[in-house]
This record gives sequence, structure tokens and C-alpha cells, in this order.
Amino acid sequence: MLMERVKTGIEGLDELIQGGIPEGSAVLVSGGSGTGKTIFGTQFVYNGATLYNEPGIYVSLETNLKNIIWNMENFNWDIRSLQERNLMKIYRLNIGYAKTREEVIQRVDEELNTISQLVKEINAKRLVIDSVAAFGIWFDSPALVRSVLFEFVDRLKNLGCTTILTTETRGGRREFSAFGVEEFIADSVIALYFTPPHRSIFIKKMRGTNHSKIPHPFEITSRGIVVNAQDRVLWESIK
Ligand SMILES: Nc1ncnc2c1ncn2[C@@H]1O[C@H](COP(=O)(O)OP(=O)(O)OP(=O)(O)O)[C@@H](O)[C@H]1O
Ligand SMILES: [Mg+2]
Repeated sequence: MLMERVKTGIEGLDELIQGGIPEGSAVLVSGGSGTGKTIFGTQFVYNGATLYNEPGIYVSLETNLKNIIWNMENFNWDIRSLQERNLMKIYRLNIGYAKTREEVIQRVDEELNTISQLVKEINAKRLVIDSVAAFGIWFDSPALVRSVLFEFVDRLKNLGCTTILTTETRGGRREFSAFGVEEFIADSVIALYFTPPHRSIFIKKMRGTNHSKIPHPFEITSRGIVVNAQDRVLWESIK
């Protein structure tokens, strides 16, 4: 069976990945703070809803939703009407004040059920989880974070959506995850870098895809992320 591709609609990106993300796969978008992960995720959902008629769900694990609302308003994206037409849903995943390990695990499970319901409700094809770095706050032991995260992503993959997970690194060139497991759980890894004033994007892996193997420059413009697929960035210039 030929692999279907889900277009990100992000200018310059799809041509670097044979037309799009393999349908139903999970992509990790990693990068340091301010590298554009949230914009990438919202653009993926927004483009799906407006260009390809594919409903999407954006799940925020941040402490408030202001950032994403700002982002969207900043780009003049009319998310209200998309939400009204069930083309998009924004959901804030909140574990709350659970204390014990068992409580947290149970809360994660409840949240997974809610996400699953939302997916069914609007027949979502795209799902964004921004960012899984929050798991580090809920669990004290790295081993537990890894095992819960592993199960979390595994269950998300079963929802049938093409999923983007973001994770925050300390920004190093060779760092692709916060907990050392996300990059192995995901089918693909896209790294974003910001070495002021230059931004670059690198596709580290994408299963089943003959993707670009070099970093490319990108910009954040009034239309969101725009990748310059023709140009390359030298690794030495990325800090
Ligand atoms: N309209 C715009 N034009 C140009 N650049 C912009 C615009 N809006 C935001 N930016 C840039 O995008 C950055 C924020 O991107 P984003 O929120 O996606 O980063 P992030 O990787 O999610 O960061 P964090 O780790 O803090 O969540 C801003 O710091 C700014 O440099
Ligand atoms: Mg963000």
C-alpha cells in the first residue's frame, strides 16, 4: 500500500519530506525555547483546517493558553470561526494538583480519554501536543517520566491522527529531546534551531521517507514559518 502523505502546508517544508508527513505517524518537533515549536504546531493544525479541510486538535500543556491565542492573533488566524465550525479545537491539558504517582497516572489516563473523545467529536485528522516537556514537572523520577511518556504517545498513535509532539531541549545542536526517549518513540524528528538572528530547521529522521539531510534556513514571518528549501545552513554556524 502506498503511503499517504499529510501536507504540513508550511511553505518550503513539504518538498523536503517527499510531499508531507506519513499519514498516521508521530513527529517530534524539538528545539530550545523560542525556536518556533508552538508556531509550527499551530500552523500544522491551522493549515489542515483551512487548506485541506482536515479538522485538528491542538493540545496545550502550558500553564496558560495566552501564548497560543497571541500567536494566532498575531498571524491573523481566525481560530474562533474554525472552532465554531468544528474544524479546530484547542484543549488545555491540566493534570492539576495530583500528589501521588498513582493519582498522576490516573489523571494522565483521564486526559487521554478526553483527547480521544475530542478526536471522535470533530473527526480530527491532525493532533498536536505542545509540549511533552511538562511531563518532567509531574514526575520526579526520570525512569517514570520515560515509561509514562512512552505509554502516552503509544496511546495517542492509536487515535489514527497524524500527530505532532513538541519537546524542549536546552538548544544544543545534537540534542533532540528533554528526557532522552521522545526521539525514539516518535517516527520522525524535526529539529528547530535559533542562533540569533538566524533560524534553521533539520529533519533528523522520518520513517519511510527520503528526506533532506541538511539544515535549511527558515524565517518566522507574518504568515508564520517559511522554510527556504533551496538554501543550506552549515552545521558550524548553528550554536
Ligand atoms: N509575527 C512574528 N514575526 C516574526 N517573528 C515572530 C512573530 N511572532 C513570533 N515570532 C517569533 O517566534 C518566537 C516564538 O515562537 P514559539 O512560541 O513558537 O517558540 P517555542 O519554541 O514554542 O518557545 P517556548 O519553548 O518558549 O514555548 C518569538 O520569540 C519570536 O521570535
Ligand atoms: Mg511553545
